[in-house]
Amino acid sequence: MADLDGIKIEKNYYTDTAFATGGDFHVKGAANLDWGMKKHLTNIFSPKSGNTVMFAFDHGYFMGSVSGLERLDILIPRLIDHVDVLMATRGAFRTCVKPDFRKGIALRVSAGSSMINDDLSHEIVSVDIEDAIRMNADCLAVQTFIGADGQLESIDNLSKVINAAARYSIPTLGVIAVGKNMERTDQYFKLATRIVAELGAHIVKTYYCDKFEEVAAACPVPIVVAGGKKLPEKEALEMAYRSIQGGARGLDMGRNIFQSYHPAEMADAIGKIVHEKFTDKEAWEYYSGRTR
Ligand code: 5RP
Repeated sequence: MADLDGIKIEKNYYTDTAFATGGDFHVKGAANLDWGMKKHLTNIFSPKSGNTVMFAFDHGYFMGSVSGLERLDILIPRLIDHVDVLMATRGAFRTCVKPDFRKGIALRVSAGSSMINDDLSHEIVSVDIEDAIRMNADCLAVQTFIGADGQLESIDNLSKVINAAARYSIPTLGVIAVGKNMERTDQYFKLATRIVAELGAHIVKTYYCDKFEEVAAACPVPIVVAGGKKLPEKEALEMAYRSIQGGARGLDMGRNIFQSYHPAEMADAIGKIVHEKFTDKEAWEYYSGRTR
Protein backbone atom coordinates (compact mmCIF):
# COMPACT_ATOMS: atom_id res chain seq x y z
CA MET A 1 0.00 0.00 0.00
CA ALA A 2 2.02 2.94 -1.30
CA ASP A 3 0.17 5.57 0.74
CA LEU A 4 0.57 3.63 3.96
CA ASP A 5 4.26 2.95 3.30
CA GLY A 6 4.85 6.66 2.99
CA ILE A 7 5.71 6.45 -0.70
CA LYS A 8 4.19 9.55 -2.22
CA ILE A 9 3.66 10.21 -5.88
CA GLU A 10 1.92 13.39 -6.84
CA LYS A 11 -1.78 12.82 -7.36
CA ASN A 12 -3.45 14.07 -10.52
CA TYR A 13 -7.24 14.33 -10.58
CA TYR A 14 -7.39 15.74 -14.14
CA THR A 15 -10.08 18.12 -12.96
CA ASP A 16 -10.22 19.81 -16.38
CA THR A 17 -10.85 16.54 -18.21
CA ALA A 18 -14.40 15.18 -18.59
CA PHE A 19 -15.23 11.69 -17.32
CA ALA A 20 -14.01 9.32 -20.03
CA THR A 21 -16.66 6.61 -20.31
CA GLY A 22 -19.86 8.66 -20.37
CA GLY A 23 -20.93 7.46 -23.81
CA ASP A 24 -24.05 9.30 -24.95
CA PHE A 25 -25.91 8.89 -21.65
CA HIS A 26 -26.27 11.97 -19.49
CA VAL A 27 -25.48 10.41 -16.10
CA LYS A 28 -21.85 9.96 -15.05
CA GLY A 29 -20.74 6.35 -14.76
CA ALA A 30 -24.07 4.99 -16.02
CA ALA A 31 -23.36 4.47 -19.71
CA ASN A 32 -22.96 0.71 -19.27
CA LEU A 33 -26.06 0.17 -17.14
CA ASP A 34 -29.26 -1.43 -18.41
CA TRP A 35 -32.45 0.24 -19.64
CA GLY A 36 -34.29 0.08 -16.33
CA MET A 37 -31.43 1.65 -14.38
CA LYS A 38 -31.13 4.39 -17.01
CA LYS A 39 -34.87 5.08 -16.85
CA HIS A 40 -34.75 5.52 -13.07
CA LEU A 41 -31.64 7.70 -13.31
CA THR A 42 -33.40 9.81 -15.93
CA ASN A 43 -36.26 10.33 -13.47
CA ILE A 44 -33.61 11.86 -11.19
CA PHE A 45 -31.15 13.65 -13.50
CA SER A 46 -32.45 15.94 -16.23
CA PRO A 47 -31.38 14.77 -19.71
CA LYS A 48 -31.05 18.45 -20.65
CA SER A 49 -28.73 19.72 -17.89
CA GLY A 50 -27.56 16.34 -16.56
CA ASN A 51 -28.27 17.70 -13.09
CA THR A 52 -30.89 17.45 -10.34
CA VAL A 53 -32.51 19.38 -7.50
CA MET A 54 -33.38 16.86 -4.82
CA PHE A 55 -35.35 17.92 -1.80
CA ALA A 56 -34.40 15.97 1.35
CA PHE A 57 -37.04 15.77 4.04
CA ASP A 58 -36.14 12.38 5.50
CA HIS A 59 -34.76 13.95 8.69
CA GLY A 60 -37.61 12.53 10.75
CA TYR A 61 -36.11 9.06 10.41
CA PHE A 62 -33.66 9.95 13.17
CA MET A 63 -34.40 13.55 14.21
CA GLY A 64 -38.17 13.45 14.67
CA SER A 65 -40.19 16.55 13.78
CA VAL A 66 -37.42 19.10 13.21
CA SER A 67 -38.28 22.76 12.70
CA GLY A 68 -39.85 23.23 9.31
CA LEU A 69 -40.92 19.59 8.96
CA GLU A 70 -43.66 19.55 11.59
CA ARG A 71 -46.41 19.19 8.97
CA LEU A 72 -45.24 17.40 5.84
CA ASP A 73 -48.79 17.35 4.48
CA ILE A 74 -48.71 21.18 4.35
CA LEU A 75 -45.09 21.68 3.25
CA ILE A 76 -44.82 19.19 0.41
CA PRO A 77 -47.68 20.51 -1.77
CA ARG A 78 -46.02 23.96 -1.59
CA LEU A 79 -42.67 22.63 -2.77
CA ILE A 80 -43.38 19.78 -5.08
CA ASP A 81 -43.46 21.84 -8.29
CA HIS A 82 -40.12 23.47 -7.45
CA VAL A 83 -37.84 20.41 -7.22
CA ASP A 84 -36.99 17.35 -9.33
CA VAL A 85 -36.84 14.61 -6.70
CA LEU A 86 -38.31 14.04 -3.25
CA MET A 87 -36.08 12.20 -0.77
CA ALA A 88 -38.03 10.78 2.16
CA THR A 89 -39.05 7.74 4.17
CA ARG A 90 -41.81 5.41 3.04
CA GLY A 91 -43.89 6.57 6.02
CA ALA A 92 -43.66 10.19 4.89
CA PHE A 93 -44.43 9.37 1.24
CA ARG A 94 -47.43 7.20 2.03
CA THR A 95 -49.02 9.54 4.55
CA CYS A 96 -48.15 13.01 3.28
CA VAL A 97 -47.48 12.90 -0.48
CA LYS A 98 -50.27 12.31 -2.99
CA PRO A 99 -49.33 9.43 -5.30
CA ASP A 100 -50.18 11.43 -8.43
CA PHE A 101 -46.99 13.50 -8.30
CA ARG A 102 -44.62 13.13 -11.23
CA LYS A 103 -41.21 13.72 -9.68
CA GLY A 104 -38.39 11.33 -8.86
CA ILE A 105 -38.49 9.27 -5.68
CA ALA A 106 -35.40 8.78 -3.51
CA LEU A 107 -36.51 6.38 -0.81
CA ARG A 108 -34.68 6.29 2.52
CA VAL A 109 -34.18 2.59 3.36
CA SER A 110 -31.75 2.63 6.29
CA ALA A 111 -32.60 3.50 9.89
CA GLY A 112 -31.68 2.71 13.45
CA SER A 113 -30.25 5.84 15.01
CA SER A 114 -31.94 8.67 16.86
CA MET A 115 -30.82 12.02 18.20
CA ILE A 116 -30.75 10.71 21.77
CA ASN A 117 -28.08 8.11 20.95
CA ASP A 118 -24.44 8.97 21.61
CA ASP A 119 -23.41 7.04 18.54
CA LEU A 120 -25.58 7.55 15.46
CA SER A 121 -23.60 5.18 13.28
CA HIS A 122 -25.52 1.93 13.82
CA GLU A 123 -28.27 1.25 11.31
CA ILE A 124 -30.15 -1.56 9.64
CA VAL A 125 -31.87 -1.90 6.28
CA SER A 126 -35.43 -0.96 7.18
CA VAL A 127 -37.31 -1.42 3.88
CA ASP A 128 -37.70 -4.68 1.90
CA ILE A 129 -36.93 -4.51 -1.78
CA GLU A 130 -40.53 -5.55 -2.52
CA ASP A 131 -41.87 -2.52 -0.70
CA ALA A 132 -39.42 -0.23 -2.49
CA ILE A 133 -40.72 -1.63 -5.79
CA ARG A 134 -44.34 -1.07 -4.67
CA MET A 135 -43.41 2.56 -4.05
CA ASN A 136 -41.89 2.95 -7.55
CA ALA A 137 -38.65 4.16 -5.98
CA ASP A 138 -36.12 5.62 -8.43
CA CYS A 139 -33.25 5.10 -6.00
CA LEU A 140 -32.75 3.69 -2.51
CA ALA A 141 -30.84 5.83 0.00
CA VAL A 142 -28.53 4.15 2.51
CA GLN A 143 -26.46 5.94 5.16
CA THR A 144 -22.76 5.03 5.32
CA PHE A 145 -20.48 5.76 8.26
CA ILE A 146 -16.93 5.48 6.97
CA GLY A 147 -14.48 5.75 9.86
CA ALA A 148 -17.16 5.41 12.55
CA ASP A 149 -17.99 2.59 14.92
CA GLY A 150 -20.76 1.39 12.61
CA GLN A 151 -18.68 1.38 9.41
CA LEU A 152 -18.85 -2.38 8.84
CA GLU A 153 -22.60 -2.71 9.33
CA SER A 154 -23.31 0.35 7.18
CA ILE A 155 -21.21 -1.14 4.37
CA ASP A 156 -23.11 -4.39 4.89
CA ASN A 157 -26.39 -2.45 4.61
CA LEU A 158 -25.21 -0.64 1.49
CA SER A 159 -24.03 -3.85 -0.17
CA LYS A 160 -27.26 -5.71 0.63
CA VAL A 161 -29.35 -2.89 -0.80
CA ILE A 162 -27.20 -2.59 -3.95
CA ASN A 163 -27.45 -6.36 -4.50
CA ALA A 164 -31.22 -6.53 -3.93
CA ALA A 165 -32.04 -3.38 -5.93
CA ALA A 166 -29.81 -4.41 -8.84
CA ARG A 167 -32.07 -7.43 -9.39
CA TYR A 168 -34.83 -4.96 -10.32
CA SER A 169 -32.67 -2.30 -11.98
CA ILE A 170 -33.14 0.20 -9.17
CA PRO A 171 -30.17 2.49 -8.45
CA THR A 172 -28.73 3.00 -4.96
CA LEU A 173 -27.79 6.34 -3.40
CA GLY A 174 -24.96 6.08 -0.86
CA VAL A 175 -25.21 8.85 1.72
CA ILE A 176 -21.94 9.87 3.38
CA ALA A 177 -22.58 10.67 7.04
CA VAL A 178 -20.38 13.04 8.96
CA GLY A 179 -19.89 12.70 12.69
CA LYS A 180 -17.47 12.73 15.57
CA ASN A 181 -14.54 10.97 13.89
CA MET A 182 -15.36 12.07 10.39
CA GLU A 183 -13.87 15.45 9.57
CA ARG A 184 -15.26 17.54 6.75
CA THR A 185 -12.00 17.55 4.81
CA ASP A 186 -11.31 16.74 1.19
CA GLN A 187 -9.20 13.79 2.39
CA TYR A 188 -12.18 12.34 4.25
CA PHE A 189 -14.68 12.93 1.47
CA LYS A 190 -12.30 11.56 -1.18
CA LEU A 191 -11.96 8.37 0.88
CA ALA A 192 -15.64 7.98 1.73
CA THR A 193 -17.15 8.86 -1.67
CA ARG A 194 -14.73 6.63 -3.53
CA ILE A 195 -15.36 3.66 -1.21
CA VAL A 196 -19.12 4.00 -1.63
CA ALA A 197 -18.89 4.34 -5.43
CA GLU A 198 -16.54 1.37 -5.75
CA LEU A 199 -18.93 -0.75 -3.70
CA GLY A 200 -21.52 -0.08 -6.41
CA ALA A 201 -23.58 2.96 -5.40
CA HIS A 202 -24.92 4.71 -8.50
CA ILE A 203 -25.17 8.15 -6.85
CA VAL A 204 -23.28 9.53 -3.85
CA LYS A 205 -24.54 12.20 -1.51
CA THR A 206 -21.89 14.14 0.38
CA TYR A 207 -20.96 17.59 1.65
CA TYR A 208 -19.16 20.47 0.00
CA CYS A 209 -15.54 21.00 1.10
CA ASP A 210 -12.32 22.70 -0.02
CA LYS A 211 -10.87 21.04 -3.14
CA PHE A 212 -14.33 19.70 -3.89
CA GLU A 213 -13.43 19.50 -7.59
CA GLU A 214 -10.91 16.78 -6.72
CA VAL A 215 -13.51 14.87 -4.67
CA ALA A 216 -15.95 15.00 -7.60
CA ALA A 217 -13.30 14.12 -10.21
CA ALA A 218 -12.18 11.03 -8.27
CA CYS A 219 -15.74 9.77 -7.78
CA PRO A 220 -16.89 7.78 -10.86
CA VAL A 221 -20.62 8.36 -10.24
CA PRO A 222 -22.56 11.61 -9.80
CA ILE A 223 -22.26 13.46 -6.51
CA VAL A 224 -25.20 15.37 -5.07
CA VAL A 225 -24.36 17.80 -2.29
CA ALA A 226 -26.23 17.97 1.02
CA GLY A 227 -27.00 21.35 2.50
CA GLY A 228 -26.27 20.69 6.17
CA LYS A 229 -27.32 23.12 8.88
CA LYS A 230 -29.30 26.16 7.81
CA LEU A 231 -27.17 28.96 6.39
CA PRO A 232 -28.26 32.47 5.36
CA GLU A 233 -29.81 32.05 1.90
CA LYS A 234 -27.02 33.99 0.16
CA GLU A 235 -24.40 31.66 1.63
CA ALA A 236 -26.40 28.56 0.77
CA LEU A 237 -26.64 29.74 -2.85
CA GLU A 238 -22.87 30.35 -2.89
CA MET A 239 -22.34 26.80 -1.68
CA ALA A 240 -24.73 25.47 -4.32
CA TYR A 241 -22.88 27.39 -7.03
CA ARG A 242 -19.44 26.25 -5.85
CA SER A 243 -20.69 22.66 -5.73
CA ILE A 244 -21.94 22.71 -9.31
CA GLN A 245 -18.80 24.54 -10.48
CA GLY A 246 -16.76 21.88 -8.69
CA GLY A 247 -18.43 19.02 -10.55
CA ALA A 248 -21.47 18.08 -8.44
CA ARG A 249 -24.41 16.93 -10.56
CA GLY A 250 -26.98 18.30 -8.18
CA LEU A 251 -27.97 19.44 -4.74
CA ASP A 252 -29.89 17.34 -2.21
CA MET A 253 -30.76 20.04 0.28
CA GLY A 254 -33.11 19.84 3.21
CA ARG A 255 -32.83 22.44 5.97
CA ASN A 256 -31.53 25.15 3.64
CA ILE A 257 -34.83 24.85 1.80
CA PHE A 258 -37.45 23.95 4.39
CA GLN A 259 -36.07 26.21 7.13
CA SER A 260 -36.00 29.21 4.80
CA TYR A 261 -38.84 31.72 5.21
CA HIS A 262 -39.32 31.25 1.44
CA PRO A 263 -38.78 27.55 0.70
CA ALA A 264 -40.28 27.52 -2.80
CA GLU A 265 -38.30 30.58 -3.90
CA MET A 266 -35.14 29.07 -2.41
CA ALA A 267 -35.71 25.81 -4.29
CA ASP A 268 -36.28 27.81 -7.50
CA ALA A 269 -33.07 29.80 -7.00
CA ILE A 270 -31.12 26.57 -6.48
CA GLY A 271 -32.74 25.19 -9.63
CA LYS A 272 -31.47 28.20 -11.60
CA ILE A 273 -27.90 27.33 -10.56
CA VAL A 274 -28.34 23.61 -11.10
CA HIS A 275 -30.14 23.68 -14.46
CA GLU A 276 -29.67 27.12 -16.00
CA LYS A 277 -26.03 27.96 -15.23
CA PHE A 278 -26.90 30.93 -13.01
CA THR A 279 -24.04 32.23 -10.90
CA ASP A 280 -24.58 32.53 -7.13
CA LYS A 281 -24.97 36.30 -7.57
CA GLU A 282 -27.63 35.89 -10.27
CA ALA A 283 -29.44 33.31 -8.16
CA TRP A 284 -29.34 35.61 -5.14
CA GLU A 285 -30.77 38.48 -7.21
CA TYR A 286 -33.46 36.14 -8.49
CA TYR A 287 -34.29 35.02 -4.94
CA SER A 288 -34.23 38.57 -3.55
CA GLY A 289 -36.43 39.83 -6.36
CA ARG A 290 -39.09 37.28 -5.50
CA THR A 291 -39.04 37.64 -1.74
CA ARG A 292 -38.99 41.43 -1.28
C1 5RP B 1 -29.17 12.52 6.61
C2 5RP B 1 -29.60 12.87 5.25
C3 5RP B 1 -30.51 13.94 5.13
O1 5RP B 1 -31.48 13.70 4.18
C4 5RP B 1 -29.78 15.13 4.64
O2 5RP B 1 -28.41 15.15 4.93
C5 5RP B 1 -30.33 16.29 5.22
O3 5RP B 1 -30.22 17.32 4.35
P1 5RP B 1 -29.69 18.67 4.90
O4 5RP B 1 -28.36 18.40 5.56
O5 5RP B 1 -29.54 19.50 3.65
O6 5RP B 1 -30.71 19.23 5.83
O7 5RP B 1 -29.21 12.31 4.27
O8 5RP B 1 -27.89 12.11 6.58
